[in-house]
Amino acid sequence: MEIKDSGLYIILCAVAVGLGVIAGTLKKPEAGPTETSSTTPAEQTTQNTTTETTTGIKNAKIAESGTGITVIKADDFAEVYPLEYASYMKNNENDEVVEYTEQNPYIKTLYEGYGFAISYGSARGHTYVIEDISATGRPHKLANCYTCKTSSFTATVLNEGDSAYAMAFDDFTNQITDPFGCFHCHGTNPEGGVITITHGYLVNAVADDFDSIDAANLSCGQCHTEYYFDPATKATTLGYHGLATMNPDDMLEYENSLVDGEGNMFADWVDETTGVRKLKVQHPEFETFLGEGSPHGSPDSMVTFTCADCHMAKTTAEDGTEYTNHYWISPLQNQELLDNNCSKCHKDLAAEVKKIQDETTAKEDELGNKMAQLDADLSKAIEDGTIDGEDLENCRLACRNAQWFWDFVYVENSEGVHNMKLTQHCFEKTEEWLEKAYSYLQ
Ligand code: HEC
Ligand code: HEC
Ligand code: HEC
Ligand code: HEC
Repeated sequence: MEIKDSGLYIILCAVAVGLGVIAGTLKKPEAGPTETSSTTPAEQTTQNTTTETTTGIKNAKIAESGTGITVIKADDFAEVYPLEYASYMKNNENDEVVEYTEQNPYIKTLYEGYGFAISYGSARGHTYVIEDISATGRPHKLANCYTCKTSSFTATVLNEGDSAYAMAFDDFTNQITDPFGCFHCHGTNPEGGVITITHGYLVNAVADDFDSIDAANLSCGQCHTEYYFDPATKATTLGYHGLATMNPDDMLEYENSLVDGEGNMFADWVDETTGVRKLKVQHPEFETFLGEGSPHGSPDSMVTFTCADCHMAKTTAEDGTEYTNHYWISPLQNQELLDNNCSKCHKDLAAEVKKIQDETTAKEDELGNKMAQLDADLSKAIEDGTIDGEDLENCRLACRNAQWFWDFVYVENSEGVHNMKLTQHCFEKTEEWLEKAYSYLQ
C-alpha cells in the first residue's frame, strides 16, 4: 500500500466525496456516494493520525521463452511452502456458481450466436478452472481457450511460440499436467515471492510501462484482462499498447480498426439476424482497476493498493509467521484486513460496496434490456425493409459500440466497485451509442 502526500490527499478526497473544504476542516456530507456510512473515508483519514510506510513498486521478472521449460506442479511445493500451498488449496472452498443466462435472460439476445448465450457461469476459485472449462456448454475449438486455465499451456506457449494457440483444443487436453498453478506467477521458482510474468501478450501490451506497474498487479493482469484472439494467428492478444491506450475508448477504436481474413471489420462473432459484427469483452479487472478514476488503483489516486493487497492480504499463521494468503477472496471476507487497514478510512466498507454494486447491477439490467429491445427493433426494420445501405451499416456499428461499453462493465467481476467513475463513463457511452443507433432507425 502506498499513500501519497496526505495534505493533498485530504483535499482531493473531500472533492471526491463532494464535501466543502473550509480552512482545512471537513464538513459532514449531506448526501453523496458514501452516505450509507456514518463516517466517510475522508473524515476517518483526518481522525486517524497513523502514518503508513510508503513502499515502492515491486518489479516483476519476465519469463524466458524457448527454453525447454517444464512446469513444476503446485503439489511439488506443498512441503517447501506449506502455508502458501495450504492457502492455495483453500480455493476449493470458493465453489459457488451463478448461471448468468438464467439470472439475466436478456444476455441470450445480446450474445445470440455466441457460446455465452448458451452457458455463462460466474467465476469461482482458481483451482476449479479445468473442471469449469470442461463442463461449460460452450464449444471450444482451439487450445487458445486454455490461455488462462493451465500452466501447462502457458509453458507450451513459452516453449513453442504463438503456433501453440492454434492447436486443436482436444489435442491439448491430454497434455495438461498442472491446472492453474504457481507457475503462472512465479515461473519455476516462487522463492521470496518474486513474480515472473509468464504470459507474453501482457508484456507486449503494457510495453514501456512494464516497470511502472507493480509486480502483483501484473501477475493478475495476465488473465483478469480484456483480450481477443488475433484473426490471423489465433494468438491471445490485448488491444492496447502502453497504459495511455489501456482504456475502453481507445481499445474499442483499436479493435474497430482490425480487419479479418475476408477484409471485414474484426468481430468475435456476427449476430445472424441483425448482421451486427459483435465484440465480446472479457473480465477487464486489470484495465478497470488501473484505469483513470480508480480510487485505489490509478497512478493519480492518493492511496494505492495492489490486487494482492486486497485479494491476498498478508496473514499471520499460528506460529507467528507472516505470509501472503493465496486464497483469492473478496476483501469483505477478510475481517483481519478490514480491521487492521480498511477500517482506518472506511467505517462500513460492506455497505459502501453493496450500494455501488446495487446501482451498477440496476443500470446494467436497464441498459441490457434496452439493447435487447434495440436488437428486436433492428431485426424488424431489416425484415420490413425500412433500413438499408449506409443507415444499416451505421446502425450496426452503433449497436456494436453500445454493447462494447455495456459489456466492459457487465463482465468486470467487481460490479463497479474497482472504479465507479469508469463504470459511469461506460454507461454514458452505451446510452450515447443507443441513441445514435435509433437515429438511423427512424
Ligand atoms: C496469481 C498469482 C500467484 C500465484 C498463482 C501464486 N502466487 Fe505466490 N505470490 C503471489 C504474490 C502477488 C505474492 C506476494 C509478492 C509480494 O509480496 O509482492 C506471492 C508470494 C509468494 C511467496 C513469498 C512468501 C509470502 O508468502 O509472501 C511464496 C513462497 C509463494 N508466493 C509461493 C507460491 C506457491 C507455492 C504457489 C502455488 C501453490 C503460488 N505462490 C502461486 C502471487 C501468486
Ligand atoms: C492464469 C490465469 C489467472 C491469473 C494469473 C489470475 N487469475 Fe484469478 N481467475 C482466473 C480464472 C480463470 C478464474 C475463474 C475460475 C473459475 O470460475 O473456474 C479466476 C477467479 C478469480 C477469483 C474468484 C472470483 C469469484 O467470483 O469467486 C478471484 C477473487 C481472482 N481470480 C483474483 C485474482 C487475483 C487477485 C489475481 C492476481 C494475484 C489473479 N486472480 C490471477 C484466472 C486467473
Ligand atoms: C482496494 C481494494 C481492491 C483492489 C486493490 C482490487 N480489488 Fe478486486 N475487488 C474489491 C472488492 C471490494 C470487490 C467486491 C467484492 C465483493 O463483492 O464481495 C472486488 C471484486 C473482485 C473480483 C470478483 C470476485 C469476488 O470475490 O467478488 C475479482 C475477480 C477481482 N476483484 C479481481 C481484482 C484484480 C485482478 C485486481 C487488480 C487488477 C483487483 N481486484 C484489485 C477490492 C479490490
Ligand atoms: C487512507 C484512507 C483509505 C484506506 C486505508 C482505504 N481506503 Fe478505500 N477509499 C478511500 C477513499 C478516499 C475512497 C474514495 C471514496 C469516494 O470517492 O467516495 C475509497 C474508495 C474505496 C472503494 C470504492 C468504493 C467506495 O467506497 O467509494 C473501495 C472498494 C475501497 N476503497 C476499498 C478499500 C479496501 C478494501 C481497503 C483496505 C485494504 C481500503 N479501501 C482502505 C480511502 C481509503
